[in-house]
Amino acid sequence: MATDSFGVTDDSTYIIVTGERDKERLTILSEIYNPFSLRFFTNCNIQKGARVLELGCGIGIASQMYASEVGKDGFVLATDISEQQLQVARTLLPKEGISNLEFRQLSAFEIDGLNEQFDVVCARFLLVHLQDHQKVIQKVKKIIKPGGKLIIEDITGNQTFYSSPHTEGMDILHHLDRLQCEVQQSDDEYLTSLPALLEKEGFRVVSMQKAHPKLGTPRKRKSILFHLSSLKDALIRAEKTTEKEYNDMLQKVIELEQNSSVEIYYYEFGQLCATF
Ligand SMILES: C[S@@+](CC[C@H](N)C(=O)[O-])C[C@H]1O[C@@H](n2cnc3c(N)ncnc32)[C@H](O)[C@@H]1O
Repeated sequence: MATDSFGVTDDSTYIIVTGERDKERLTILSEIYNPFSLRFFTNCNIQKGARVLELGCGIGIASQMYASEVGKDGFVLATDISEQQLQVARTLLPKEGISNLEFRQLSAFEIDGLNEQFDVVCARFLLVHLQDHQKVIQKVKKIIKPGGKLIIEDITGNQTFYSSPHTEGMDILHHLDRLQCEVQQSDDEYLTSLPALLEKEGFRVVSMQKAHPKLGTPRKRKSILFHLSSLKDALIRAEKTTEKEYNDMLQKVIELEQNSSVEIYYYEFGQLCATF
């Protein structure tokens, strides 16, 4: 399937920059959400020795965490549509690598070509960028073992990102999120209807949880600037904004980031585990 420099395919509508240009954003994203992901993974009772398939692994920070959790007898195949992301993921591994973790370029829409079945399938911050969730779920059914677990983690909605007190900078971030959804033609609140879709496809939802992290350190607050810059090229390319408008918006978001008297809560995080 043909991909352009943004990793966009016929099925995939991902518009955020990838590779080195997205490394810092995804690193901080993991610092914010990994503690929740780790706790959920443990609570889902994933056994040592489990074989895990990760979809949309990005730069592979959560992949390393899963590999450590399933131990040397387990295995993680971490996949992403973007080779640029995987190149960064490989540089973040210890020099000698991690013996039970492999990165492979693969779209979530093409996993049915894999010739093995997995105990666990994970996807974090992936489906919110895609249009056809049912198609991905149907592909997962083909490569998950009976009794296997599907763990999906994602934002519960763009409007869950907020500041206290409310600020103009936050209005801008919401505006950009709306534009991102328009360009991707994606639904930021899809998680609400996901349990019904999973049940329809023969899964049983066994656990659901939510967390709402605060950007409590200057480093975590920086993520709002990376958030903005990661979308810049795509929004200008789609003629949703101009360079000048973007720079004006950036100023307001910098004001928000630097005003430490304003608290910022990042996206609410929904976590779901279903068995097949
Ligand atoms: C927001 S990042 C999340 C990365 C990682 N899961 C994390 O939590 O840090 C979304 C990732 O999904 C990848 N992606 C987009 N469309 C995809 C598709 N159709 N199949 C697989 N990966 C895809 C992107 O390249 C990107 O690395």
